[in-house]
Amino acid sequence: MMINNRLKKVGDLVEAESSFLDIGCDHAFLDIYLARKKDGNFKKIVASDNKEGPLKQAKKNIEMYQLQNKIELRLGEGLDIYTEDIDTIIISGMGGRNMIGIIKNHLEAVKTIKTMILSPNNYQSDVKRFLVSIGYQVKEEHLVKEGKIIYQVLKFVKGKKKYTKKEFFFGPLLLEKKGNLFNEYYQRELKSREILLTLLPKNYYLRRWKVKKEIKLLKEELR
Ligand SMILES: C[S@@+](CC[C@H](N)C(=O)[O-])C[C@H]1O[C@@H](n2cnc3c(N)ncnc32)[C@H](O)[C@@H]1O
Repeated sequence: MMINNRLKKVGDLVEAESSFLDIGCDHAFLDIYLARKKDGNFKKIVASDNKEGPLKQAKKNIEMYQLQNKIELRLGEGLDIYTEDIDTIIISGMGGRNMIGIIKNHLEAVKTIKTMILSPNNYQSDVKRFLVSIGYQVKEEHLVKEGKIIYQVLKFVKGKKKYTKKEFFFGPLLLEKKGNLFNEYYQRELKSREILLTLLPKNYYLRRWKVKKEIKLLKEELR
């Protein structure tokens, strides 16, 4: 089975012998990849989605690889289908605010979830701020290029850590590593903000002020 770079990176951050729940599994490619991984030894693999269509496709794919006895399927909204035997949550390929909402709705789950592996399509800084506010720290941060798009793939573990505004904005570990992909990613962020500024009406004072501040920060870092 072919798995793209982004999903492979998400999967490779899942620790061996963990019990994980993949929220929004869609086709379940990630769960199939992990179930077939030789050194995975996962205690539990749960693939879930809140829509019947994707889950039906996931079931077909899982049966094609004869992994019915290794991957459990659950239909339900976000963490509603969470059980206490899960220690790792994976959410990838959806918007950051949707992810925050899913976790916020079941904060009690934080008691047993040691690790969260998240790959939000947007609002990545907000996701990091939120996870830190509920007692997690950034353990790994990666940029992965898939076609023309660059994705952030993030791993959070329990722990208290303080981050500066700049670290939240760029990502504390990305800022340390930097590299070519970092430059490409944030050059694009700079360009999109410069375009946004030309489109924002003049009386959107607060929004324009925020965008200008971010442009300054980006220019300073990319100098
Ligand atoms: C774009 S797909 C991402 C699939 C896969 N996780 C990936 O990264 O390629 C998003 C999936 O999340 C599901 N989804 C969206 N919001 C959800 C929620 N609140 N709870 C469960 N599933 C959700 C959608 O039905 C869809 O199948």
